[in-house]
Amino acid sequence: MVLNFAHRGSLTEAPENTLPAFQLAIEHGVKAMELDVQLTKDGHLVVCHDHKLMRFNKNAGLIKDYTLEEIKQIDIGASFDEKYKGVVLPTLSEVLELCPKDLLLNIEVKNIPVIYQGIEKKLIDCLREHDRLSNVILSSFDHVALKNIQEIDPSIPLGMLFYYRILNPWEYAKQSGLNITSIHPNNVYTDREFVRECKGFGYKVYPYTVNGMERYEQLVEYGVDGVFSNNPEIFVREN
Ligand code: G3P
Ligand code: MG
Repeated sequence: MVLNFAHRGSLTEAPENTLPAFQLAIEHGVKAMELDVQLTKDGHLVVCHDHKLMRFNKNAGLIKDYTLEEIKQIDIGASFDEKYKGVVLPTLSEVLELCPKDLLLNIEVKNIPVIYQGIEKKLIDCLREHDRLSNVILSSFDHVALKNIQEIDPSIPLGMLFYYRILNPWEYAKQSGLNITSIHPNNVYTDREFVRECKGFGYKVYPYTVNGMERYEQLVEYGVDGVFSNNPEIFVREN
């Protein structure tokens, strides 16, 4: 059974990682959602992929330099479409309130290039407050952040993200001693052998970001457990 993730919500239809994008993915019937978290200057968890806001608002700077109150004044919707003017970055709490409990959430901790000291504890505290420590996978390209999460709560399933093709990441994952339940590789080098090795080590495999149907079908044939996709046709698909 393949389970696909809506990547940053339905980002082709609404500004990525915003409440409208998550709402649309939910309305499409998605079973799993991916989102990225970072910290404001005053230590609030906000949902955003980039550490700078310039892609969404040319006058804006770095997330880490704004308080939450200031972030909530920055329009990040109009650059996508005038109809989304006034849309701002959501807090993680707001996204958790929107997402039903039966929706699998993959929360990616963005900790590169800005290192957000203490983000792991804030994230776990927030999930606990929302009774959302189940049906969740926490992932990161920063494997130290994964270790920090495990030290706080060893019961949380961890997803290990890889951007570059490294030698035998499944062995690296095992040797890390972390509670890795899934490997999240860049899809460009995910091939049949990669999937077979990961599965042999007991890991699920969720490649990112897969938007073309032909490539998707190929990865499913290799045996992936799901993909991250921007394409609604793919993220609602169940094989
Ligand atoms: O978590 C999967 C994927 O989102 C990782 O890359 O850069 O899109 O956050 P990125
Ligand atoms: Mg991400």
